[in-house]
Amino acid sequence: MSTEKILVTGGAGYIGSHACVELMQAGYDVIVIDNLSNSKPESLARVEKITSKSLVFVEADICDKQALSDIFSAHDIYAVMHFAGLKAVGESCLQPIKYYQNNVYGTLVLTEVMQAFAVNKIIFSSSATVYGEPDTVKYTEDLPVFGATNPYGKSKAMVEDILKDLAQADSLSNTENPWKIILLRYFNPIGAHISGLIGEDPNGIPNNLIPYVSQVAVGKLEQLSVFGGDYPTIDGTGVRDYIHVVDLVKGHLNALAALKNTSGCKAYNLGAGKGYSVLEIITAFTRITGKDINYKIVERRTGDIAEYYADPDLALRELNWQTEKSLDDMISDTWRWQSANPNGYE
Ligand code: NAD
Ligand code: WQD
Repeated sequence: MSTEKILVTGGAGYIGSHACVELMQAGYDVIVIDNLSNSKPESLARVEKITSKSLVFVEADICDKQALSDIFSAHDIYAVMHFAGLKAVGESCLQPIKYYQNNVYGTLVLTEVMQAFAVNKIIFSSSATVYGEPDTVKYTEDLPVFGATNPYGKSKAMVEDILKDLAQADSLSNTENPWKIILLRYFNPIGAHISGLIGEDPNGIPNNLIPYVSQVAVGKLEQLSVFGGDYPTIDGTGVRDYIHVVDLVKGHLNALAALKNTSGCKAYNLGAGKGYSVLEIITAFTRITGKDINYKIVERRTGDIAEYYADPDLALRELNWQTEKSLDDMISDTWRWQSANPNGYE
């Protein structure tokens, strides 16, 4: 068991809260900084309930240099898991400054403060969206980071560039404390903790497939629009690599262990390596929950790609990580959370 202190930015959010659980259960001490712009403190109360342990919560913005400095002064932080960020693709197209400010500037402030306090280890929540639209459906890490189609995706690519430049700068100097950076490119995280106590709690009408389907199943929304039925895929609908959020955060713990022997900046895909279509998801959801999902096939959504999934081999080889949970696990855990908490944390 480790007793190192981990700063979890965005720890009250969907993925961050699951990361807190796994970290605390592995013996780490957790300090969360979150401005609650897309989350509720109740998620952290539930984390404490699941783990029967307490964490330190600081309600602040990562753009607030003083607040971050206070945290690093008060705690001997071993490494940072950096989840804090805005993630709504459509909103980012309408409010690009907000996204660059929060995601890019926020990371600049964070890394500046880390450097000032000689904390050199960071794991960053990147996204498969940084690959843009390559000429292949199976994404490997050596594909160029190029052509993200929206400001959200571009902000992730920019942060990747900044972090790569920090590592590059080390290689040009003889620093005694070089950066150790892992970029984790998530595919489509879904599911919830098996307890049903924490899960995804989107504000307003969900943009993503699984939260939308869950809210149709629970009776909060009437009908799912399936975006496109004429893609060149198995059944004409979009295919994605869905990954259980607990598998995803376990990948972060393996990355944390790997950071000890990492030098510079390395990127890994976190995905299952297999895709499912929208109609396959709907069919599985109905089979597992017994709820019929009312849906209608409509026009394609602008910016969507037909099909992609991860090549997860590098993460297996170098992080000793692979997904363990099935699509059925992802859906039954989503449903346990959604049906027990139809209004999320409210
Ligand atoms: P989320 O919105 O549930 O969690 C993000 C958390 O960060 C929220 O609690 C929010 O309040 C907080 N936050 C945002 N800006 C902040 C700031 N400036 N200062 C302090 N706190 C701030 O999102 P999530 O799904 O848990 O995603 C976590 C990370 O993973 C994000 O960076 C996201 O871009 C990335 N990611 C998510 C997905 C996905 O599909 N969920 C896929 C790829 C990458
Ligand atoms: C999945 C599939 C849709 C909603 C997004 C971001 C990506 C990453 C993960 C952060 C697609 C279809 C969806 C609906 C539908 N996030 N769909 N009806 O677009 O693959 O990825 O989340 O980094 O950057 O873009 O996820 O869940 O929105 O869509 O038919 O109401 O479901 O067309 O084929 P996406 P999604």
